Amino acid sequence: MKDFAGKVLFITGGASGAGLGQAKVFSEAGCKVVIADIRQDHLDEAMAYFREKKAEVHAIQLDITDRKAYAEAADEVEKVYGSPPQLLFNTAGVNTFGPAEASTFEDFDWVLGVDLGGVINGMVTFVPRMIQAGKGGHIVTVSSWGGFLASSGCTPYSVAKAGVNMLMECYYTALKPYGIGVTCLCPTNINSNIGEAVYTRPEQLEEYGIQCK
Ligand SMILES: NC(=O)c1ccc[n+]([C@@H]2O[C@H](COP(=O)([O-])OP(=O)(O)OC[C@H]3O[C@@H](n4cnc5c(N)ncnc54)[C@H](O)[C@@H]3O)[C@@H](O)[C@H]2O)c1
Repeated sequence: MKDFAGKVLFITGGASGAGLGQAKVFSEAGCKVVIADIRQDHLDEAMAYFREKKAEVHAIQLDITDRKAYAEAADEVEKVYGSPPQLLFNTAGVNTFGPAEASTFEDFDWVLGVDLGGVINGMVTFVPRMIQAGKGGHIVTVSSWGGFLASSGCTPYSVAKAGVNMLMECYYTALKPYGIGVTCLCPTNINSNIGEAVYTRPEQLEEYGIQCK
């Protein structure tokens, strides 16, 4: 895909770090952008920037682990921009650090829930809508170099990202006939706010073994 003008783009984690960078670049390229993020303060800050730029950007507060809310967000995109997205960027992610052997169920549930489950929710929510719209498109998921490394220092993250790599390989083959491309980005270090990820950890998953608060 080379022409982005007028394309609808939905970005999870779009209010900070890599996702915010994507929103800036693709809104400048003419996309109608939706930034979806769990943090309202990040959304407010990002929208102040986009309002000043007079960019076509719409903000939705969304926890990507909440399937019902995800479906409502997809409905909102269609209401605001008249179409499901042609571009979906699964960018939101969280991380924890510490020895694998100290990990709790909650460490795994939180990181796998957001980093793998959240991407699955994005695919299951949007792919049928994209196919039905018949306009083709492209899906970009931000995984990590960590998905190729067996790291005992951030095991839930490595497991989630390895799963995401495989998930996107499968969708790559499946979506070709529909003209929907699939890309999995595996960066190393990004200048971002991922160090604040713990602030979004849900209360019911607070039993942590490997994250210092
Ligand atoms: N920072 C790095 O060095 C690095 C390296 C490789 C890959 N990545 C990946 O890049 C992606 C973007 O992260 P970043 O580094 O820009 O961090 P970031 O914290 O700046 O941005 C991530 C955004 O995701 C949002 N988010 C977290 N949980 C969410 C949820 N449940 N629902 C919706 N939004 C949620 C956060 O509020 C935040 O705004 C992640 O998938 C991360 O794993 C980061």
